[in-house]
Amino acid sequence: MTQSLVIRRPDDWHLHLRDGAMLDAVLPETARHFGRAIIMPNLVPPVVTGDQAAAYRDRILAALPEGMAFEPLMTLYLTESTDPADVAAAHASGLIKAVKLYPAGATTNSSSGVSHFDKVRPVLEKMAEIGLPLCVHGEVTDADIDIFDREAVFIDRVLDPIRKSTPGLRVVMEHITTANGVDYVKSNETDLGATITTHHLIINRNHILVGGIKPHYYCLPVAKREEHRLALVTAATSGDARFFLGTDSAPHTDANKEMACGCAGCFTATNTMSLLAEVFERADALDNLEGFASRNGPGFYRLPVNEDTITLTKGDAVTYPSKIDTDDGPVTVFDAGFPLHWRVD
Ligand code: NCD
Ligand code: ZN
Repeated sequence: MTQSLVIRRPDDWHLHLRDGAMLDAVLPETARHFGRAIIMPNLVPPVVTGDQAAAYRDRILAALPEGMAFEPLMTLYLTESTDPADVAAAHASGLIKAVKLYPAGATTNSSSGVSHFDKVRPVLEKMAEIGLPLCVHGEVTDADIDIFDREAVFIDRVLDPIRKSTPGLRVVMEHITTANGVDYVKSNETDLGATITTHHLIINRNHILVGGIKPHYYCLPVAKREEHRLALVTAATSGDARFFLGTDSAPHTDANKEMACGCAGCFTATNTMSLLAEVFERADALDNLEGFASRNGPGFYRLPVNEDTITLTKGDAVTYPSKIDTDDGPVTVFDAGFPLHWRVD
């Protein structure tokens, strides 16, 4: 029996498109299924000013193949010298939809991020005033905090104090990986949402480490214990509008992943909708896939849902290429380790 599911076209509320040859190769992988995406600004050098975001937006649109429709939703990378007036102007013109906070040193290309949170207070206050969301990479970077505890500690030591001292600041906890993150979102009625990645719904830390180290499952925040993965699946499939899809699809070449000090990031743009359909079906929650992938994100960002739809059809196993080619070298597509049955028509 053929089963099919029609949903509003999904959006990706956390995406790395990179630049140059990598951008050319990965952009169609997202634009094939997604209408819009929040574009991460962690280029080298980062996208800090409104002018830089406008130029990056133009490069993305220039890289979009003929006949594909896709709207990049730009963000600025918050630094300790970010000018509140520049942020406000970029927001007022409609150019940017969020500002991204990376604690300095937390992840790929985050060295220009924030070390002293007091220094960004004027920007955060301006953002609260104008209703511009702050996307947060929620991990502390202290050497003495275990990598598996960094998200939970960040909530207590950094995020909760920032939110309490900046009433009205709208925050997206990006790529939550713990039950602590889920609980923190649920304990707040307003001004707080969270993205959940595709891969964190599928892998736990055993997938990375048991039976040999698997560099293509290594990302930041690192996948945690199974109990945390289960909490993420429950949140994502629950229908709670505070949780929405942000794939954090983060392409790195195989050469940069498969080395003594490999880069963090899973590349899921290509097969995310098939993966999610499988996850939601297993949770007996296919009816909530549209909310998670297509409705809750626009709801938080106060944007309309996409007008058009996509159709997912269940049938024989669907396969995706194991790698995509780029002029920088091959990039491995995330492998769930189980067969996929839902095809996007
Ligand atoms: C991201 C990247 O490669 O830019 N890596 C990752 O593991 N998610 C950065 C990030 O979002 O932390
Ligand atoms: Zn990311």
